[in-house]
Amino acid sequence: MELISIIAFVLISIITAAYIYFKNAFNYWKSRGIPFEEPIIPYGSVKGLNKTIHTSDITKRIYDKFKGTAKYCGVYLMAAPIAMILDLDLVKHILVKDFSNFSDKGFYSNEEDDPLSANLFTLDGDKWKKLRAKLTPTFTSGKMKIMFSHVVEVGERFNDCLRGIVQENNEVEIKDLLARFTTDVIGTCAFGIECNSLKDPNAGFKNMGEKAFRPRYPSLIQFLVIGMKNVSRRFHVKIMPDDVSEFFLRMVYNTVKYREKNDVHRNDFMDILIKLKNDKNALEGLTLNEIAAQAFLFFLAGFETSSTTLMFCLYELSKNPDIQSKARKVVQEAYEKHGTFTYEMMMDMPYIDHILQETLRRYPPVPFVSRIAKNDYNVPETSNIIEKGTIIVIPTYAIQNDPEYYPDPERFDPDRFAADIARERDTMTWLPFSEGPRNCVGLRFGMMQARTGLAILLNNFEFTLNSKTIEPLSYIPDCFVLNPKGGVHLNLIPIKSK
Ligand code: HEM
Repeated sequence: MELISIIAFVLISIITAAYIYFKNAFNYWKSRGIPFEEPIIPYGSVKGLNKTIHTSDITKRIYDKFKGTAKYCGVYLMAAPIAMILDLDLVKHILVKDFSNFSDKGFYSNEEDDPLSANLFTLDGDKWKKLRAKLTPTFTSGKMKIMFSHVVEVGERFNDCLRGIVQENNEVEIKDLLARFTTDVIGTCAFGIECNSLKDPNAGFKNMGEKAFRPRYPSLIQFLVIGMKNVSRRFHVKIMPDDVSEFFLRMVYNTVKYREKNDVHRNDFMDILIKLKNDKNALEGLTLNEIAAQAFLFFLAGFETSSTTLMFCLYELSKNPDIQSKARKVVQEAYEKHGTFTYEMMMDMPYIDHILQETLRRYPPVPFVSRIAKNDYNVPETSNIIEKGTIIVIPTYAIQNDPEYYPDPERFDPDRFAADIARERDTMTWLPFSEGPRNCVGLRFGMMQARTGLAILLNNFEFTLNSKTIEPLSYIPDCFVLNPKGGVHLNLIPIKSK
């Protein structure tokens, strides 16, 4: 046989085998009688995901199409079957009532070769359980109160920095500036250092943080790594870029060494993590690498989500001047009542909380929550079974923008969260931080940072929307959090602060 014929034969065989594999895989939901989104080879049901369409748009389209037809529907991510949950009762079972069967996420981590990858977000099973128990006390309201002064300090520096910028030009792209604020807050609290991104936009921390969010491999390879975790570990596959790893590991080693040698305490996350390392009674303590992985995760989980929340909040306040004025009045009255910005003052502004809750409803930075079934699961009140190993997706963005739960969902209305109205709603209709034993452990810190940033901004500036903002907002497809194309451009007018 000529070479060309051999190549043609091999190619045709591979294509035929792949075709048969996909056709078989695509029978999964149909054969179980579950409504499903029609797949195509090789994308599955999510053609365009992360290339031309953001996850929030795909999950919303599928949720809107199937809601009411069943408790969950089937989706294919390439050939893998995914169960997308449509029913709030089933959401509650998965996140809370039957959590023990859905505590895992099925992500890849490699403690030996890639220490930063073994963090609370990625670990599963017993390792996750133990680590969560060790870290939960880090985020009590008592600990938040102690860290509050660091947040206000950075907030005041942020205000000075903005005033300086606005003196030269009052048109600003706000996302980048807010990311500098949240980077400095979390850098101060998690690593105990001045990141300086407010003064120097290219400072290492922010650059490294952004780099850590960019995937090391194309989607197909990532999918293979997750699908073959043990093999990938055997081949020493890492997911963090080497320079990011080196940067954060060095930072933590140096900080711990310095603090231990000089007996330095700053009342921050790093203090608490060092105490855990040295406390041999506390469920085996923490190793230095474990400290680095958690501090790194707090940084990643904290800076992007919180700056995104503040960005959407300012966008909506710019479009709704009445709400903005009311919010400013609330802040100014609180300053008058409390004299200075104290923890008690921050907790004494319920309307500010309603604004942030409505922002997180309309624009949840993390648009879905995922889990993996540990064992076969009998779906309550049905004869259906979610099989062991099935990936579960809870489409937070779609649920929170469903007109059945939030009439006229695109309207920004903080009063939806007034106590008497919110009480009437199912708690599973608001999931920006998820729910149950694996919800966001940093919720209190995230809210503290957002409340502080917003109050300081409202007390110092008026905002209007600049025409450079591209409306209606659409999201950058390959960005995990919601990130508007072209950014959010605002006009900032400094006002006399209280
Ligand atoms: C507005 C801000 C934030 C939002 C919207 C947010 C949202 C979320 C969501 C949706 C999850 C997944 C929960 C699940 O799978 O059920 C999560 C997990 C997590 N978040 Fe946050 N987060 C925010 C801020 C923070 C901050 C400031 C920190 C740390 C300082 C943090 C640390 C974590 C950690 C460690 C996890 C993993 C928890 C676990 O798997 O046990 N987050 N977050």
